[in-house]
Amino acid sequence: MMKILAIDTACDETSAAVTDKTTILSNIIWSQASLHAKWGGILPSLAQREHIKRIDWVIKRALQKAKKQIQDIDAIAVTAGPCLAIAGQVGIEKAKELSSKYHKPLIAVNHLEGHILSSLATPKTNRVAAEISFPALGLVASGGHTDLALIEKIGTYKLLAKTSDDALGEALDKAARMLGLGYPGGAVLEKMAQGGKANSHPLPLPMSGREKEGFFSYSGLKTAMWKIVEAEKNKNQGSLSKTQIQNLACSFQNKAFEHLVKVVSNAINHQPLDLKDLLFGGGVSNNIEIRKRLRQMGKKYHLKIHLPYTKRLCGDNAAMIGVAAYFKAKRGEFEKNINQVERVPRLSLEENFPWAN
Ligand code: KG4
Ligand code: ZN
Repeated sequence: MMKILAIDTACDETSAAVTDKTTILSNIIWSQASLHAKWGGILPSLAQREHIKRIDWVIKRALQKAKKQIQDIDAIAVTAGPCLAIAGQVGIEKAKELSSKYHKPLIAVNHLEGHILSSLATPKTNRVAAEISFPALGLVASGGHTDLALIEKIGTYKLLAKTSDDALGEALDKAARMLGLGYPGGAVLEKMAQGGKANSHPLPLPMSGREKEGFFSYSGLKTAMWKIVEAEKNKNQGSLSKTQIQNLACSFQNKAFEHLVKVVSNAINHQPLDLKDLLFGGGVSNNIEIRKRLRQMGKKYHLKIHLPYTKRLCGDNAAMIGVAAYFKAKRGEFEKNINQVERVPRLSLEENFPWAN
């Protein structure tokens, strides 16, 4: 048995979960999104303050919902990076406090590994865990990252492509803002796009012909979008009609996703290895259109696309941190000295924590 109490305060969600191996017993997420909305982005000091306010409550709820006492828990896990520095700090301090107070081993987790492994999580109701053959591919598309990695085995990752500017979620949020859809806008943009036409506006395909360079890039697409939005507004006395918004949302998503799939396909084509599985996670993996396109790509390459079993596991949540921690625990990777554990805001998926080297 490996029951883990996991904590994540990497960004603007305060989350705690109880997991048992890969089974999710509870996954409590307190989202601050509506508080940050009026700033049009995440305000780190506000995120920190809200995490401090909510952290004890989410932990209590996670234990209650899992019907566990802290004494029943075998280890505490926490996101130690990448994160918004002062936000991540709140979770780390709480995890260290619980670890020493209750004499529980501590496991520091890379937030990106949590997203990558989120599709391995299983619900309480007897579902069989996905069978993955390694090496496999891992794809994270969130508000802060767009990373494609080769998973040599669980815990060993090699980046095949990453973003050279904005992350995909960030680009979708910015496009949504241009269209007056609020923040965070990825989900609203998706809704609008469903009623629009993909080729209604001549947006460029990012890095066309340069996919083998191994970069995702969304800044050029964003600038082109901005110019078209301004031109459309001018035609319409400074505002946009619903049809214009739908068409622009659909055109933007179309090129953004076409680019993503091209870079991923290119990486598959250049891999000498026989790949059978792709694990997809992060907030953007909520999107039905990107799921559809990746599945189509998967058919072409005989690659199975694995997604989290519930949407609660796509965006930031602590259960994915518990799942990643379970695999670390299996390898005996507990923190030897909890005083060394500190936030590593810019940690990449490939990197180990500095104190673990
Ligand atoms: O993983 P996540 O919750 O937080 C980070 O680690 O960044 O991802 C948040 C991102 C936001 O950019 C949000 O707009 C995007 O995920 N997102 C979506 C959808 N739902 C959330 N993007 C596209 N379609 C969605 N349905
Ligand atoms: Zn995240």
